[in-house]
Amino acid sequence: MKTDSSSSIGIFDSGIGGLTVAKAVIEALPEENIIYFGDTARVPYGIKSEETVRNYALQITDFLLSKGVKMILIACNTVSASAKDEIIKAAGDIPVLDVITSGTDAALSGEGGKDQIGVIGTLATVNSKAYVRSIKERNNGVEVIQQACPLLVPLAEEGWIDNVVARQTLHTYLSYFDETNIRSLILGCTHYPLFKDVIAQEFGGKKIDIIDSAESIAETARLKLKELRLENSGGGKLECYVSDRPQRFQELAERFLGRSLGDVQIVTLS
Ligand code: DGL
Repeated sequence: MKTDSSSSIGIFDSGIGGLTVAKAVIEALPEENIIYFGDTARVPYGIKSEETVRNYALQITDFLLSKGVKMILIACNTVSASAKDEIIKAAGDIPVLDVITSGTDAALSGEGGKDQIGVIGTLATVNSKAYVRSIKERNNGVEVIQQACPLLVPLAEEGWIDNVVARQTLHTYLSYFDETNIRSLILGCTHYPLFKDVIAQEFGGKKIDIIDSAESIAETARLKLKELRLENSGGGKLECYVSDRPQRFQELAERFLGRSLGDVQIVTLS
């Protein structure tokens, strides 16, 4: 399909987590149209096999391409870890950006990213060691300490981001870093920025950079659109699609984005 500057940016995730990326893109590129897809029927991805995640991700890529998007942002670390190359191939001329590359760049350019970097993510992302490879390719001297936090995605999808269960769960997961000297922590799952305040409180007085790849991928998208002369003006529409429970998604998304959404549409992929 022919794309031009008025075409949308496609952003996708397994559920609501990618909205953290959508929010950053809306802030950085307010004139761009966005098509968001959340695979709410099949979330969470982080406990599934690489093959399954890859299969889902390619179905979503096809869906976004059928909508004529001019760029795809993989707003899911789990997908970035297991299917980035296949998505790039399927997208052909359409540029594809991913959150692992952006998260790595942001962590390494920060003050805290010099010796030891902590990464929290889904089981799939942690087991894939995608962050370890990505960081070491750029700076082999940095030690990467990972911790999987599989309970956080279901909590976020339920909207439990700042209650006693969320706090206790985060306390348990993050105490893993007590014996380390990390000064930078990558939120290696796009659902986790929803817990950013609680995470910061957990580290108390410790000086630590909390890295959310959303802002960094939004900035890369801005530069890429400029380079390709594909910047839009006068747009700013956000269209959302999900594979299940559109109303639930709409409620959570409106609360998080602080604006009302048009109707969230349901799409069945196979
Ligand atoms: N938000 C996603 C990520 O960044 C996926 C979480 C999940 O579905 O388990 O990894």
